[in-house]
This record gives sequence, C-alpha cells and structure tokens, in this order.
Amino acid sequence: MKSEVTLGLDVGTSGLKAVALDASGRVVAEANAGYDLLTPRPGWTEQRPADWLQGARTALRDISAQLERLGAVPKALGLSGQMHGLVPLDAQGEVLRPALLWNDQRTAAQVELIEARIPRAELVARTGNRAVTGFQLPKILWMQAEESELFSRLRHALIPKDYLGYAFTGQMVAEPSDASGVGALNLARGEWDGGILRELGLDPALFPPLIASVDQVGTLTPHWARELDLPDGLPVVAGGGDNAAAAIALGLSSTGLSSAQPQVGSLSLGTSGVIFAPLTTPTPDPEGRVHLFAHADGGFNLLGVTLAAAGSLNWLRDRLAPETSIETLIDEAAQVAPGAEGVTFLPYLAGERSPIMDPHARASFTGLSLAHGRAHLVRAVMEGAAAALAHAYAVIGPLAPLSTLLSTGGGARSELWLGMVGGATGLEVRTTQARPGPAHGAAILAMPVGGLHPDLNAAMQATRPQIGEAVAAQDMDASLKAYTAARRSLYPAK
Ligand code: XUL
Repeated sequence: MKSEVTLGLDVGTSGLKAVALDASGRVVAEANAGYDLLTPRPGWTEQRPADWLQGARTALRDISAQLERLGAVPKALGLSGQMHGLVPLDAQGEVLRPALLWNDQRTAAQVELIEARIPRAELVARTGNRAVTGFQLPKILWMQAEESELFSRLRHALIPKDYLGYAFTGQMVAEPSDASGVGALNLARGEWDGGILRELGLDPALFPPLIASVDQVGTLTPHWARELDLPDGLPVVAGGGDNAAAAIALGLSSTGLSSAQPQVGSLSLGTSGVIFAPLTTPTPDPEGRVHLFAHADGGFNLLGVTLAAAGSLNWLRDRLAPETSIETLIDEAAQVAPGAEGVTFLPYLAGERSPIMDPHARASFTGLSLAHGRAHLVRAVMEGAAAALAHAYAVIGPLAPLSTLLSTGGGARSELWLGMVGGATGLEVRTTQARPGPAHGAAILAMPVGGLHPDLNAAMQATRPQIGEAVAAQDMDASLKAYTAARRSLYPAK
C-alpha cells in the first residue's frame, strides 16, 4: 500500500521550507527555497508575497517529485510562517504593496497612538500584549498615515502564511496562534476585539474570520494544484505561527499542564531568539514585556523575543568575514574563555522586544581593547543573544516557571550557543534528534484533516521527537554582569 503523508510549509524570513511527514513524524521529503529580504530604509523590512509563492512553487514541486519516487501520497498541506506581518489586499484580493514584516520598526508613532487611545493595561488585559511596533495592527495604521491612497483601497489584512492559504484555496481565514500576534485579538473571547478596532477607527471587516489551527482553510484550486504539482482538491489546513508550530513539532502542549509535570518550553535560535512557555490559562505580564499568544493546540503561551539572535551572528559574519562559515566562526569563539575577555554585545540591531520593548534601541559592543580579535566579537555576540534571552526569561519565569528548554531553529546546531542560554537562564537545554521546526509542526497540524490521526493530541503523541542529553551549561556569570551594566548605562529606564 502507498504510504500517506502530510505536507507542511514554513514561510520564513530567509526562505521557505517544506517537509512531508508520515504518520510517525518521520521526514519523508524536504525542500527549501530562498528569497530576498527587502530593507528599503534602516529599520524597514519587507518581502514580496509573490516571492513566497514562487518559493512555495519551487519547494513543493521538489517535494512532489520526491514523493512520486517514493510512492507516497500527500493527504493535506499545513501552513506556518513568520508571525505579525501585514499582507495588504484590495477588494479583488490583489496585493497592494510589499508585505511589512515582523521585525520592521517603522511604526513607533502608531504604537504611541494606539496606547494613547487604549491604555496599555487595558490592551494587555484584552489582547495579552501592549502595542508592539512589529505587530500587524500598527502597520495598518502606518499605511493609513503614510500611504493614504493605498490605504483607501485596503480591504483585507492577512498574515503571511494566511496569504498563502488564500492564494492556494481562494479562502481568507486566520487562526488563533497567528491572529493573537496582530494586536487586536481578544484572547479570552478568541475573537477580533471590535472595541479596540472601533476606538482606532478601523473596520473589523479588514480581518478574516477565525478558524481553529487544525481546521481546513479550503482545498487547492485546480490552478495551484498544477502550479505546485500536487493533487487537485488537496485540503489546506490553517496551521500556526512559526513559534507555535515549532512547539507542536517538539510535542509541547499547553492543554492539560499539571504542576507535577516538568515544565518544558522551547528555545529557538533563528533570525530572532525566542523562549516559548506553554500556559493553560491566558496570564499576561501586566506590563506586556513578554508576549502572551494563543497556542495552536487551543491553549496559550508566553513568548520572550530578542529580535536579532542568529540575525546578529549572520550580520557580523557578512560584515567581517563573508567568506567564512558560521561554523568556523563559532569554533574560533569556543577557544575564547566565557565572558569574551570583557567584550560585551547588546544585540539590538533591529531594535528590541522582550523585555525592553524599544524600537529605537541599537546594538553596541563594549569593553573592546587592542588585544581583542574576531573570535572575541563572535563570542560576545553569542553571549549577548543568550543574555538577552535570560533577560526575557526573568519576566516569563515567575508566570510560567520552566525546568527545560527544547531547542529548535538554526542555532540549535551549536551546543556552545545552547549551553550559553542554559548558563544564562539556569534552565536545562536539550536538543532533539530530528531538530523539528515550524514546517514539521504545520504538517502535524494537518494530520487530523489528512486522516493520518483522529485528532491533534494523537498526532502529537505519535510524532513526539526523541529528546537528547542536556547540553553542558556555559559559565555566563561574567557576561551577564557586563551585559546588565552596559544595558543600564545605555538604556537606563529599562
Ligand atoms: C515572534 C516573532 C518572530 C517571528 C519570526 O513574536 O516575531 O519569532 O515569528 O519568524
């Protein structure tokens, strides 16, 4: 009998990844496609939705050819991707301008406007979050203020992965794990907050109807079935935001947590650095210094985000040693003692989210001397990202104490870096054998609709990854002290 698989795709910031998983979670096929990140001005980040579609074409055609050779049959396609972005569409569903992304910082004025209209405490109580520059809501207000002609034609605001779902099926929907990153979802009620939108003069009809993360968006149109080389009528499943989808792939459920259970969260060292902590009830940080979002399994999660983790390391490599691999640079950094001999890096290249929430923050090296070389800079960047995550965990911990972090994302390949986060947070950090990420989670979220498992719980049980040994914690005492001193002197209010 032909084996059955579900497909998952992740519309990432640096490229699109697609996987095919069988019912046990084994990766049967995978493919990637890259695309450009547009940075028209400092602090602005954009992507062309057409490039995502081209990436999907490339990766899914590749997957389809692999499945054909293996005699495996795709039963459903699940979606995941970078959170928070704005894909603006007109009445015909045409893209009005390039998408504004999660790490775009142009909306400081709109964030002030939102909080002037709706007090922060109320926003946090209703949406789980304060107003955040990267979220979709201020991006819409930015279009209204700065691109009024385009804004007058705006009829639909979609999140990146939901745009792909629309393109593939003709149906516009959102699901809670990504919708809660817009900044206008009432978390307790699980619906768009009409009061907030009215206060801001926005039409609630801009936002698509909500369905559950495991629900079907629609089926592949004949056109897209041909474009992707997949079966006509293949069910497309809503899926989840990238962090929630990765957590699903790591087996992290937020429903039915008990205090007797060891509290397991996840650590992602991708472009951004993220600590994800599952939560049963929606309990925000009252000041909104970390995010509270819906999880894709019907529960909730706290999220601490430093905007440039591997993003900082890639930046350093590109500027300093473009011919050298990241692996070589990390090997060099491993030769430097913990504390990088006094060199400290604040990783605010793209402004910063948790916990300082400052779009105007900028990165800096401190403590440099003639004796320091590139290995010190690399070590300082890695330690800086780890210290920033520990700073965020200091807010998460009292609300959702964790014992263990399971690693995901590109940085998960470096045990040194994971050990730095372990040392900085005091948590045990473990790797998983297959290093599953958001695309895997999207495929797992598609399993109930695809008929591979009766429900999400069964799919998560069957696909749970094998957990590895705890990585050795690095001594972070000196770098944490230096980081805190540098931050306090440059950002005294935080
Ligand atoms: C989370 C966040 C990032 C993006 C990266 O709030 O902004 O992790 O989802 O893709």
